[in-house]
Amino acid sequence: MKEEDLIKAATEARLRAYAPYSKFKVGAALLTKDGQIFTGCNVENSSYGLSICAERAAVVKAVSEGCTGFTDLVLVVDCEGICTPCGACRQVLFEFNPDMNIIMLNLRGGKLEAIARELLPEAFELDH
Ligand code: THU
Repeated sequence: MKEEDLIKAATEARLRAYAPYSKFKVGAALLTKDGQIFTGCNVENSSYGLSICAERAAVVKAVSEGCTGFTDLVLVVDCEGICTPCGACRQVLFEFNPDMNIIMLNLRGGKLEAIARELLPEAFELDH
């Protein structure tokens, strides 16, 4: 699976974002160890706190289809800087693979890469 495939999937997922309140569309694509891609977009709600981020939407889709072995996540936004996952998403991504490679892109050529454990130092782990 090429990185370009994952980027294309996240970019397409971004267009499906339901973000009438923030107008900030986010797309995510998760790659599993066996090469499957699960996409997600942010889904907002008029009760704002119920909104779900693109990353968690992708994780929930994958896990509910029986897949948990994630190796990479691509996140795509359209803003000047780079959007990094929110704290809640960092914890959820860390849960499934602290060594997950997280690639954050904007539509203007900006790119940042990090490992899940770098984004969430001293993450909460139940068995610690
Ligand atoms: N959002 C994401 O989908 N992922 C992030 O990592 C940060 C924020 C969404 C949530 C909300 O729908 C919108 O972006 C503005 O916060």
